[in-house]
Amino acid sequence: MRVTIFGSGYVGLVTGACLADAGNHVVCIDVDAAKIERLKAGEVPIHEPGLEALIRRNAEAGRLEFTTDVVRGVAHGLYQLIAVGTPPGEDGSADLSHVLTVARSIGTHLSRYCVVITKSTVPVGTADKVYAEMTRTLAARGAEVEFDVVSNPEFLKEGAAVNDFMRPDRVVIGSGSARATELMRALYEPFIRNHDRLIVMDIRSSELTKYAANAMLATKISFMNELANIAEKVGADIEKVRIGIGSDPRIGYSFIYPGTGYGGSCFPKDVQALIRSAHDAGHEPQILGAVEEVNARQKTVLFGKIQQHFKGQLRGLTIALWGLAFKPQTDDMREAPSRTLIDLLVKAGAQVRAYDPVAGNEARRLYQGVAGFELAKNAYEAAAGADALAIVTEWQEFRSPDFERLRESLRTAVIFDGRNLYDPNMVSRFGLTYYAIGRGRQPGIAANEGS
Ligand SMILES: NC(=O)c1ccc[n+]([C@@H]2O[C@H](COP(=O)([O-])OP(=O)(O)OC[C@H]3O[C@@H](n4cnc5c(N)ncnc54)[C@H](O)[C@@H]3O)[C@@H](O)[C@H]2O)c1
Repeated sequence: MRVTIFGSGYVGLVTGACLADAGNHVVCIDVDAAKIERLKAGEVPIHEPGLEALIRRNAEAGRLEFTTDVVRGVAHGLYQLIAVGTPPGEDGSADLSHVLTVARSIGTHLSRYCVVITKSTVPVGTADKVYAEMTRTLAARGAEVEFDVVSNPEFLKEGAAVNDFMRPDRVVIGSGSARATELMRALYEPFIRNHDRLIVMDIRSSELTKYAANAMLATKISFMNELANIAEKVGADIEKVRIGIGSDPRIGYSFIYPGTGYGGSCFPKDVQALIRSAHDAGHEPQILGAVEEVNARQKTVLFGKIQQHFKGQLRGLTIALWGLAFKPQTDDMREAPSRTLIDLLVKAGAQVRAYDPVAGNEARRLYQGVAGFELAKNAYEAAAGADALAIVTEWQEFRSPDFERLRESLRTAVIFDGRNLYDPNMVSRFGLTYYAIGRGRQPGIAANEGS
């Protein structure tokens, strides 16, 4: 089937490559000409496991093309997917300008039936806006072309995106048209063969489902971070508590890890956008406001511990930082907790020497010209001669380091672990002072009142 995708970012590229792999002919469009040139040259601009090989295979087979040519794209697809960014506007609401620009482009060039699919995360009512914008644009040129608009939120996780798309937990379709629903079923059939995972509902419920999912996950994280801070104050170990509650199947083990707060391109902006939508609809969302506040505070917790350990004297110190990406397996640093920590450390006069297995280029782009920031080639180079080591992302390669080497190479043998990667007793046996998140009064853990 012929598919056109607007937006060649994390969602657009993964969707395009996976749909092409199922035999569809996919044209990916982006306004970023440099990105399209790189893609045409076989370069994949983001780090996503498995994506490069998938793109190469399907591009070589002629099933996956990249272009900036909107006219060609609109002429191509029976399916027109909108996967452009919906960044937060100044008031926190989702900025729909890119989505509506695409709607106008499709309306301007459409000459036969298509189904327009909003895959971007968009507030309730957006499909109506897309429909209205297309209707207006078609009318302005006196064209009468049938089309449907459906909502099809994307649930893929960065770092596991290809696998998530190929083997989805569910595919949510919001549709008011039997014809469009049938076409959506056909599009997803190759990915849900083992049993039907298509959940069809009305458009508004589908739009809200995406926000509900992300808000729930963000809530779990903030809840655990709140509990971690309580555990620290009352002398309990949050890691024991985590296991104690996760064993209840009603709670479960996933997404209840305490840490340095959630980041990335989705949770922060989606929680904000949902708060904004609730306000606009005349509802005060109390839980969501707290989720956001707890998260903002949590992003500063590691800095608080560092500051306290060094009695507020950070000027001139070098802090090694392991992990820059907002989570492992991606190079995405949007809203990453590492950025809050770097900013606070640099502002306090410290030098940050950071290492990340894949986000180096992104960090170079973001911190170009920032005097207090430098990148190391590997984890031990970052630690060599540093006054402390802070761990922000739980990359696999950080999970079992050579503690002896660390103790010898750090100028002060102290670790601030924002991901609770280690057994505190073991770390202390290697002669390292160890601070973690929410692990109060455990042997091996340095006292850290007031964090
Ligand atoms: N990244 C994720 O993990 C994820 C997961 C689920 C849903 N989403 C949602 O999907 C949407 C896209 O997210 P992303 O992370 O892929 O964003 P992204 O920033 O990586 O990519 C968006 C792309 O759209 C392009 N673009 C902007 N305007 C355009 C236009 N008029 N025509 C064509 N291309 C245009 C940009 O140049 C950019 O390359 C967002 O709404 C996001 O909330 C993201």
